Amino acid sequence: MFSVEISKVIIKIIMNTADKIEIVICLGSSCFSRGNKSMVKQIDDYIKAHRLTERVFYHGSHCFGACEKGPVMRIGNNFYYQVTPENLHKILYDNFGY
Ligand code: FES
Repeated sequence: MFSVEISKVIIKIIMNTADKIEIVICLGSSCFSRGNKSMVKQIDDYIKAHRLTERVFYHGSHCFGACEKGPVMRIGNNFYYQVTPENLHKILYDNFGY
């Protein structure tokens, strides 16, 4: 059972992320070595440049179980495979219009 303070933190996180679009980048070892490492900053820069911080919940994840299709990321319910620095901008544009 959680303490009252931990429960408050969990509720705060849920309330802050409930209405946000989730961007999840796989940080598993395979995706990381295939290039997600460089895209972590690219995505962060994109979010800041387009002032999406209030609309987006951006975070990393453990392996999605699709290593052979990596690098993998997810935006909302959509998975993107073989993401590269070259096709990343189109993926973000298709989702956010910038
Ligand atoms: S390490 Fe990314 S899908 Fe497995």
